[in-house]
Amino acid sequence: MRKKIVAGNWKMNKTFEEGLALASEIINIAKDEHIQKAILVINPPFIHLNALQKLIPQNTNVFLGAQNCYHQKSGAFTGEISVDMLKSIGVQYTIIGHSERREYFNETSEQLAQKINLLLEASITPIFCCGESLSIRESGEHLAYVAQQITEALFHLSAENLQKIVIAYEPIWAIGTGKTASSAQAQEMHAYLRNHLTSKYGETIAQSISILYGGSCNPQNAKELFACADIDGGLIGGASLKSRDFISIAQSF
Ligand code: 13P
Repeated sequence: MRKKIVAGNWKMNKTFEEGLALASEIINIAKDEHIQKAILVINPPFIHLNALQKLIPQNTNVFLGAQNCYHQKSGAFTGEISVDMLKSIGVQYTIIGHSERREYFNETSEQLAQKINLLLEASITPIFCCGESLSIRESGEHLAYVAQQITEALFHLSAENLQKIVIAYEPIWAIGTGKTASSAQAQEMHAYLRNHLTSKYGETIAQSISILYGGSCNPQNAKELFACADIDGGLIGGASLKSRDFISIAQSF
């Protein structure tokens, strides 16, 4: 059985105090309401990570993730955060290759492959993001385009390492726009990507990889999206900033 995962990407939101409050609410509700069907991952800004790690109790299904890491191990890279630093404070997941980072910070597939290698060496689970712009979807090239993103960043991995990755399909035109991909559009892409993984790694491994959907996912549409055969959860932006909404999404399986 593939893992069901709901990950919240807080992006550049919440002051330190606000972040502590939001994480505490999520942890408490998840405990009180016995959220067991899904793994919850909280991905706050870097400066919140250490304090939030201390809030998360043992034996819970709530985990801590970062939103990025640097692609070199250490050294003179002013302002950057290394995988070893994340590891040293107990981070267990890290989002890689979000479209905002690809677009605004010019991240390349080569750098993403380097980040993934460093994360896997540190036993941190990468949440690898992929997705097409509106113009690519309208050109009809979206399936091949997203498969190519996966080839470039992931296909150097051994089968054993590929199984440690989580993939998040996030159509750029659906991010923060309130315009969700329909469940048919999302399922079509997820199935295509799983077939793409099968072509390289075989059926058993492809079937074991969790592929999350991201892009205006909310408590109203999560149930229909998560009911699709190849959608194993969500990477949630705006709706992860409200504890109730985030938990409702996690209860949508
Ligand atoms: P929204 O849920 O706000 O559309 O953001 C999705 C996203 O980018 C998650 O990484």
